[in-house]
Amino acid sequence: MISICRTPFVLVIFGGVGDLSERKLFPSLYNMFLDGLLCVDSRILLASRSPLGEVELDQWVANALAKTTRSGSEHDINVKSFRQMVSYVRLDANNPEHFLELASRIGDRQVPVIFYLATRSDLYSNICQFLAQSHLNTASSRIVLEKPIGMDLQSSQCLAETVDQYFDEKQIYRIDHYLGKETVQNLLVLRFANSIFETQWNQKYIDHIQITISETIGVEGRAGFYEKVGALRDMVQNHLLQLLCITAMEPPSRLHPNAVRDEKVKVLQALRPIVGNDIHAKVVRGQYRDGVSHGQAVVGYLKEDGVVNDSNTETFVALKVEIDNWRWAGVPFYLRTGKRLTNRACEIAVHFKEVPHSIFDIENKNTMANKLIFRLQPDEGVRLSVCEKRAGPGMSVSSTNLSLNPDRARKNRVPDAYERLLGDVIIGNQTLFVREDELMAAWEWLDPIISQWQKTEQPPEPYTSGTWGPAAATLLLAKDGRLWDEVGL
Ligand code: BG6
Repeated sequence: MISICRTPFVLVIFGGVGDLSERKLFPSLYNMFLDGLLCVDSRILLASRSPLGEVELDQWVANALAKTTRSGSEHDINVKSFRQMVSYVRLDANNPEHFLELASRIGDRQVPVIFYLATRSDLYSNICQFLAQSHLNTASSRIVLEKPIGMDLQSSQCLAETVDQYFDEKQIYRIDHYLGKETVQNLLVLRFANSIFETQWNQKYIDHIQITISETIGVEGRAGFYEKVGALRDMVQNHLLQLLCITAMEPPSRLHPNAVRDEKVKVLQALRPIVGNDIHAKVVRGQYRDGVSHGQAVVGYLKEDGVVNDSNTETFVALKVEIDNWRWAGVPFYLRTGKRLTNRACEIAVHFKEVPHSIFDIENKNTMANKLIFRLQPDEGVRLSVCEKRAGPGMSVSSTNLSLNPDRARKNRVPDAYERLLGDVIIGNQTLFVREDELMAAWEWLDPIISQWQKTEQPPEPYTSGTWGPAAATLLLAKDGRLWDEVGL
């Protein structure tokens, strides 16, 4: 196995002083550095349009790492050593000359050069083309693409054609940070390293599955991006569908990037198309209004800075998804995501069927069926709800939770998803990255929904900030005699 700390690299971050770099990439790189996971001969080059002197760069690095308190009293010394790996290059992604300067800064080092595109995806084509013109797309270079890649199937295909001209699929890392979350990998292990779950993992025993990613934050100053994208492209096309794939896929023959990704593609290709009238019946689209979040009054989406006052952009989506194959026939997957909801949480809840015949007197049968819950956040963990006898006279039955990993979170620091994924790019492991055919299958499935929403200009349903979304989302499950789980409690 290749070790990250022995692999020197050059990492060039486009959008180097942008939001993602500051909030996620830098703190993750620093954590890896503290854990001894970065080879000290490596270099991190921040490429950005805005000019930045050494003092400003010092300040930027200090800000980005200020929230990382791991190094305690040694913080300043550690930041100083880490800072030595970091430099800045001024680069306008539309100016080919700037890429020549970048090439001279990288020099002729015989190490993998990683280009991380933390910019809008409409800049990807230019960046790839200019990298190639400056002979930077060598056999050892890698390119990391942030989502959403394109706005629909057609634009994503166009982008793929350009990127494919200059880079091989083996060099392309399409990042979906949800795949780097610890519980997602644990889901793979629980499913495929234990026989007890796999025997139950089908339509015979499972009633339905709920996957929720709920956020309490609003658009947080990202209106420029969010207005064009909306929740369907921002969260469903990638994070939610990837979680669905990992939950629903067949066992791969080995833990090899293509073996895993082959199985995920099959799930995406088996999704029942949602077209025509089904779009209205199975997809709920919402937008938050004024309300209260964690005791604070918050404004609705239309009043956020940078949002047009008649915006149709959705901040909430719920869907009923069906998979047309033997394993999942008749088992709905309910997906939902939204901003300004009641709690911040991410859970995959597998609801098992009730016992075929109950010999006990149970008041509320709905809450008694077994549930296996994978919680990705806030506190990652896995729990199984089972029935037990309530202590005392009679035979009354209640439900209790078995935690499958009670000590885990307490014992070890759980690395951020980006730490895991950056490490995988450095050593060249694509297992947790999205392959081009997966990306296209996801867009192909979502395209009818996107185009119907565009055609009909269907406005999203309003919901009060701090609630669980529009009433139609509750109805989506109520029509099937089911309820959404309360998540994040
Ligand atoms: C990003 C989205 O991909 O995921 C954001 O662009 C969202 O809108 C974020 O807030 C959520 O990620 P996490 O890891 O905080 O749940």
